[in-house]
Amino acid sequence: MGRLRRFYASMVGKKVVMGVTGLIGIGFVILHSLGNLLVFRGPAAINSYSHFLKSSCELLWGLRIVLIAAVILHVTAAVQLTRQSRAARPIGYVKRDPQAATIASRTMRWGGALLLVFIVLHILHFTTGTIRPAGVFSHEDVYTNVVAGFRIWWVALFYVVSMIALGFHVFHGAWSSVRSIGVSPESPEPLHHRISLALAILIWAAFTAVPVAVFSGLVR
Ligand code: HEM
Repeated sequence: MGRLRRFYASMVGKKVVMGVTGLIGIGFVILHSLGNLLVFRGPAAINSYSHFLKSSCELLWGLRIVLIAAVILHVTAAVQLTRQSRAARPIGYVKRDPQAATIASRTMRWGGALLLVFIVLHILHFTTGTIRPAGVFSHEDVYTNVVAGFRIWWVALFYVVSMIALGFHVFHGAWSSVRSIGVSPESPEPLHHRISLALAILIWAAFTAVPVAVFSGLVR
């Protein structure tokens, strides 16, 4: 326990925790975005997929516990790393080098904060039904929840904007996490940079397709 604590106390330790928990998150969003595409196959397809996921309490809660732990560790390490690097450089750079940072890396903190707000509102919207912008919610009928929700312009817009933040976060997070974990060496144009870009675009497109298709009337 002492060694684990000492490892986590270091900046490298926190970066490894961020990398591993980030990759767990990416695994989840890949599966979740694919599952969501079942909306295009109609109510029966997505509703029976949802019933299957909820059919085993052990599977559902096993997954939920892993995800909750990953999110808590990821956010805690991010906040602590930010504080550590600010404390190490209290005055800040006189002139930042814009070349050094991509849009994605610069938006990591704000995008991450938006995603955290998104996840909370999203669970209250589609999982618990606490927030009902369309006035309807059924635990058995995910299809109707999705279609009713995304007919409202500001709900669809909130999801579309959040998915842009997700795309940037996944792009930067995917390639920087493999480096933090130490799997890949640094190189100017590594292959995993391009793989991360392709992954981010595919995840963004799969998620964004659903609110756009409902709002435009393609899925009704
Ligand atoms: C347009 C994008 C998205 C759509 C349409 C969508 C749709 C849904 C739906 C319908 C559910 C409820 C499933 C059910 O009750 O069977 C759900 C649950 C959930 N979604 Fe999403 N989702 C989207 C994006 C995301 C993103 C980007 C994340 C994470 C970063 C996410 C995380 C979750 C989580 C954690 C749950 C709760 C799973 C559970 O414990 O039951 N979703 N989503």
